[in-house]
Amino acid sequence: MRPFKTPGLDKTMCGIVGYVGHRPALGILLGGLRRLEYRGYDSSGVVLLNGKGLEVEKAPGKLSALEERLKSHPLSGRIGLGHTRWATHGGVTERNAHPHLSCDRKIAVVHNGIIENYAELRQGLRRHTFSSGTDTEVLAHLIEACYRKLGGHPLRAVTMALERVRGSFALGVVNADYPDLLVAARVNCPLVIGLGEGENFLASDIAALLPHTRRVVPLEEGETAKIDPSGVSIFGPGFARVKRRPLEIAWKADKALKGGYRHFMLKEIHEQAQTVAAEVQGRDGGLDDVRLPGNLQRVVVAACGTAWHAGLVAKTAIEELAKLPVEAGLASELRYGDTPFDRRTLTVALSQSGETADTLAALRLAREAGSPTLAITNVRGSTLAREADQVLFMRAGLEVGVAATKTYTSQVMNALFLALHLGRARGTLPRARFLELLKGFRRLPGQVERVLERTTEIEKVARKHARGYDFMYIGRRYNLATAYEGALKMKEISYLHAEGYGAGEMKHGPLALVDGRLACIAVAPRGRVTEKMVSNIQEIRARGGRVIAVATAGDRLVASVADRVLEIPACEEMFSPVLAVVPLQLLAYHAAVSLGRDVDRPRNLAKSVTVE
Ligand code: AGP
Repeated sequence: MRPFKTPGLDKTMCGIVGYVGHRPALGILLGGLRRLEYRGYDSSGVVLLNGKGLEVEKAPGKLSALEERLKSHPLSGRIGLGHTRWATHGGVTERNAHPHLSCDRKIAVVHNGIIENYAELRQGLRRHTFSSGTDTEVLAHLIEACYRKLGGHPLRAVTMALERVRGSFALGVVNADYPDLLVAARVNCPLVIGLGEGENFLASDIAALLPHTRRVVPLEEGETAKIDPSGVSIFGPGFARVKRRPLEIAWKADKALKGGYRHFMLKEIHEQAQTVAAEVQGRDGGLDDVRLPGNLQRVVVAACGTAWHAGLVAKTAIEELAKLPVEAGLASELRYGDTPFDRRTLTVALSQSGETADTLAALRLAREAGSPTLAITNVRGSTLAREADQVLFMRAGLEVGVAATKTYTSQVMNALFLALHLGRARGTLPRARFLELLKGFRRLPGQVERVLERTTEIEKVARKHARGYDFMYIGRRYNLATAYEGALKMKEISYLHAEGYGAGEMKHGPLALVDGRLACIAVAPRGRVTEKMVSNIQEIRARGGRVIAVATAGDRLVASVADRVLEIPACEEMFSPVLAVVPLQLLAYHAAVSLGRDVDRPRNLAKSVTVE
């Protein structure tokens, strides 16, 4: 196979699932797709191998459309593949949905990624009949051609085909001549194998495997695998056999169920008291197994979206406690910029999934320049976890909702712990203050619980403002991040116009937006900048804007200037992003529900952004 380092590569954000074993495969494949649907929901499809050969069913739209079709036409078989698609090449149509078949209908392929040289490969396959406009279909035909040339050898046919392919892919292949064999391969897109008893599984991520097994083997770059009911063989480049110990995953399968809540997002918001408690547990002594490098001169945090907001909290906290300059960079900018990385710069890559393309690219750039790297991620076995020098694992458990909620508060918690321990390691944080902050950490789970008790009040505010208002979220210092995050939550699930802004920047332009149709959410808990926030709130009110403040319980000053206050318990300013974001998550959630939005699967988005 080609070398796997292909900088600048684009990838699709699809989900793959595969099964081979003793049970009927269809239910297992559909269950897996349900858990992977957040990776893309433009179309879906399955292929099963049975006495009639390969049978395929696909449908454009959400998985429910495929399930509907399969009700009247169920497919049998004990081996098969499934796919859920986020379209890049080719429109959202049934014929472009995966799986794709070879001309003789004996080879089926599902693919997550992009085949960069598909046009050139297609030219060389002129005798083959193509039936879709996708890059993936070229793989089915190419593997077919190699299979014929080799006179058999399903695994070698795949590796031979992939030697000619440029791009990125995770793929699953079934071959009608081998009713007990799945072939898998990975270059630059995630793929994990799940180990069962007399059955084995394949999936884009662990979530799809949880109901069946917690023993997983992540495939690494450039590897292929032969998966049959009795075992799995992995091969590296050059067909060298690879031995890898399986990982035991602690996540529970029920995390992939709604547990009585209407949406995963609401369930995950409510889980935060437990996930914040999990982050606190056992963290007094150090940062798990992480050894912080000495002699640091600066820190660069690389992240995207919500994770970048947690990166902003990391910046403020590290600068306060460890007195180190921090650049919190958007990974998509860092990867094409000239930020100097060196041995004395600690690069912290923050990513829930550990698979975000831009964050991975920034990490690789930093590593190449000799910077020590630390990943903060939620997913064991993820690419980020494997490629970073050291890893701090978040303890949020599986998050299914596309909008990050509990993983945001977990990221913030880990960012704060990092700052705390950097402060201790550098001698800039006195022990007494360290112990005082630890006490504050321990109070957080109960305080999150208290914020969650105010759901009904927040729901009312959300219903009142969901129609007829634009939103402006403002904050300063630790809660500039909260303002950005609150606005992102609102726009991504309710599709309402919401902006996050530094409160001190309002006079530099955005104040012109203020009128009776603007709802301003001012994140103003007690801290160094509360009075500044109060002035900003007054300036907005004076111009006819409506202000809903997130403030510390009992803060009369903020209450006297805002139209409405959503209270959070008193805490150190540093901890306030953990508490202040919770009412904003609920606000966005209830606004979206009252507008009838698909909260867990917002339009145009996918949870793991493996496309740059
Ligand atoms: C936020 O709700 C989004 N899901 C998105 O901004 C996300 O945080 C971003 O894509 C980064 O994902 P990661 O943490 O998995 O890298």
